Amino acid sequence: MSVSEGQQNAHLHVQAKGRQSASLTVDDQFPVGTVSDRLFGTLVEHLGRCVYGGIYDPKSTYANADGFRTDVMKLVRELGITTVRYPGGNFVSGYRWEDGVGPVEKRPRRLDLAWHSTETNRMGLHEMEKWLHEVNPEHPLELMEAVNLGTRGLESALDLLEYANIPSGTKLSDMRRANGAEKPFNIRLWCLGNEMDGPWQLGHLNAQEYASKVRLVAAGMRQIDPNVELIACGSSSHSMKTFGSWEGTMLDQAYDLINFVSCHAYYQPRVDKGVRDMRSFLASGVDMDGFISDVVACIDAARGRAKSNHDVNISFDEWNVWYTNEPGHPHTIDDWPVGPHLLENHYTLADAVVVGDLLITLLRHADRVRAASIAQLVNVIAPIFVPESGPAYRQTTFFPFARTAELTKGGTVLTPRETGARTSTETYGDVSMVDSVAVRRANGGLAVFAVNRSLDQTADFTITLPVNAQSAESSESVESVKAETLSDEDIDAQNTADDPNRVALKPNTTVRVDEADSKKVHVDLPPVSWTVVTID
Ligand code: AHR
Repeated sequence: MSVSEGQQNAHLHVQAKGRQSASLTVDDQFPVGTVSDRLFGTLVEHLGRCVYGGIYDPKSTYANADGFRTDVMKLVRELGITTVRYPGGNFVSGYRWEDGVGPVEKRPRRLDLAWHSTETNRMGLHEMEKWLHEVNPEHPLELMEAVNLGTRGLESALDLLEYANIPSGTKLSDMRRANGAEKPFNIRLWCLGNEMDGPWQLGHLNAQEYASKVRLVAAGMRQIDPNVELIACGSSSHSMKTFGSWEGTMLDQAYDLINFVSCHAYYQPRVDKGVRDMRSFLASGVDMDGFISDVVACIDAARGRAKSNHDVNISFDEWNVWYTNEPGHPHTIDDWPVGPHLLENHYTLADAVVVGDLLITLLRHADRVRAASIAQLVNVIAPIFVPESGPAYRQTTFFPFARTAELTKGGTVLTPRETGARTSTETYGDVSMVDSVAVRRANGGLAVFAVNRSLDQTADFTITLPVNAQSAESSESVESVKAETLSDEDIDAQNTADDPNRVALKPNTTVRVDEADSKKVHVDLPPVSWTVVTID
């Protein structure tokens, strides 16, 4: 098991050297918005061992009759995944969807130029649909299907939509029925290409070219199925040189035809002369926060120019911690492996705290971020890892995601009013030491999520409850207060096949209702930690 370069100067031990105060005031009168179920999506790309050797591995002792790993399916359920963006990522920009349907033995092997691999097409649209239903038969996961706007365009997108969504009576819908799916797949969410602003993308386009392509493809798709929800590519990161102008150019041509603009962001510690800048890394949520606000501004400015009443929101459909500096597979003309070990990051406690903070950031923008996908799901920069032998296990990043999904679905985010200590970072200047958000849960209770970004200070964190959650007259109305924390004295602690439970959520026994003021709840947040407080 290799640890990527950015993680090499592990292990950093933290010790609390002092205490600082921070507080969050919760008020039901100022809701941000409801939490979209689609916030807890993921990306499953034909990349490395995400599909082959991850979700699908017929030779594994854990596989069921369809070849799906049941240990992985169980963890996906526990993680609370709702939508699956598929089949890429960069992979989609060279993909022919027809290769992945029909009798498996007749499917071609193809070059995957994005990841220098061989695509066997053992998994395709039908198998993915089956997997989505098998993971959760009562509430099948929702497919977010990406079309290839790299090497292909309008015609192949229209063909795929006809194949997937037309009930019967046409060449392509009848082909789907002949291939075993009598009923249409009824796919609502469609990505119009992937990261088309990136020079690395097969078939990369400039803003004007992409805008024209999106307009034609979106209009055509709507002629087939007016109910589709279309996601156009925004910038592939906040730091792209074309950020802002890319969004503006595309939106000016296609505003009324699309429903979402995508955002992608990956974070890792910057390393300078062998030293990691952990303070800035722990504040990665600050960048994501600014990115979302900037894209909202682009969308709303375009709405004004278009004089439109139509709503366009954000699909943050790739986000995570990613150590991008792994050496990768050598690219030679005669070596195109199937399911190679690629992007197999092994996550630390600090990485999980950052993931928890990115989730807090997404929640804080619940009114405009209406879909999101942690990238990716299994093995490839993923919360679930399949070792060489033995069952899949939970990486550190699994825990904040699973708890956030479990506690917030169907809830309403409340406007965060935070005060308290600040901490300094190289990249973002002074930032709040504790970042937090409160969600009024579907069951009426409250969930407060908080990270302590400090490397050496414990936070005395106080939550002031809303008057209507606990009437001023009655201090008995808080029935239970619980807290769980993810922390470790070694911020580089990881879970491994040999020690899969090294890092896990533990009860935080410091949580208590204030003796003098029953509208206040206190909890200690250790340095570099993620905590959830539930108040019923
Ligand atoms: O998730 C890994 C890659 O990151 C995706 O294929 C691409 O869209 C992004 O650059």
